[in-house]
Amino acid sequence: MGKTIGIISIKGGVGKTTIAASMAADLVNYYGKKVMLVDANYSAPNLGLHMDIIEPGKTIHDVLSGRARVESAIHKRFGVDVVPGSYVYSKDLNLLKLKDKLAKAKNEYDFIIIDSSPSLNDEVLSAMLASDHLFVVTTPDYPTLSCSLKAAKLARQRGKNVSGVIINKIRDPKYEVDLDNIEASLGIPVVAKIADDKNSVRALFNKTPVSVYNNKSAFAKEINKLNAALTYHVEPVPLWRYLFGKNFKREEVNRSLLKEGFYTSLFSNNGRR
Ligand SMILES: Nc1ncnc2c1ncn2[C@@H]1O[C@H](COP(=O)(O)OP(=O)(O)OP(=O)(O)O)[C@@H](O)[C@H]1O
Ligand SMILES: [Mg+2]
Repeated sequence: MGKTIGIISIKGGVGKTTIAASMAADLVNYYGKKVMLVDANYSAPNLGLHMDIIEPGKTIHDVLSGRARVESAIHKRFGVDVVPGSYVYSKDLNLLKLKDKLAKAKNEYDFIIIDSSPSLNDEVLSAMLASDHLFVVTTPDYPTLSCSLKAAKLARQRGKNVSGVIINKIRDPKYEVDLDNIEASLGIPVVAKIADDKNSVRALFNKTPVSVYNNKSAFAKEINKLNAALTYHVEPVPLWRYLFGKNFKREEVNRSLLKEGFYTSLFSNNGRR
């Protein structure tokens, strides 16, 4: 059985969709996994703009309203099965049905990645409840961190564990909140540190996931390392690090713990993968 992974934050513009699109494309194209990518940002869906879907056919909104089955809303892009959102949003949908709607697909995919909404309402709850594992995306500033704290609290209240924090858009570390403080405030391990990277903006302009646009970029490399943990692969470490006996970074250690957790849970679904 596959795993559903929710990428959450209740602050807009921190990079959820950019990260979700890149994670999905990298899991397919580098790790050879079968991946579905779902837009659960129902009121402002824009995953399509990252995945070259401008005029979607059937959407997640059609799936939730019962007008379509999830298979018929798949748009294949960059090897990923994308279920985009509709720009016309009808408020009477039961968003909390997402988990049920994806239940069958979990048997057919290695991963279902869910991009979520920054709204602190049923939109984000829909993604939280449908996910086996959650990653909170934050930028390294206090206002965003306080929103990330709320997201983590909401997840815990709903009995959902947050597997890790992804710090995105690191610009000027001397003037930003550091990893230690982020871990201490959220009580969640940091599993990726992504620099501010102009490849993200260029990739979006080209409607392409960053991992496909430039897989050597700092952004793509960090996503690739996180995906190594999710797929139980050894993270590539440069030779000079071994030669000079340089210590592992905290996020690397956190990823190796995450990897063990994912490995264990591979065998906790009634013995089925
Ligand atoms: N590491 C990065 N460096 C520079 N720009 C980035 C980075 N990550 C994302 N961006 C840019 O930030 C903008 C917002 O990203 P994105 O749409 O992924 O955020 P979001 O959290 O999904 O927003 P929303 O909550 O509104 O859906 C985009 O222009 C994207 O290209
Ligand atoms: Mg988004």
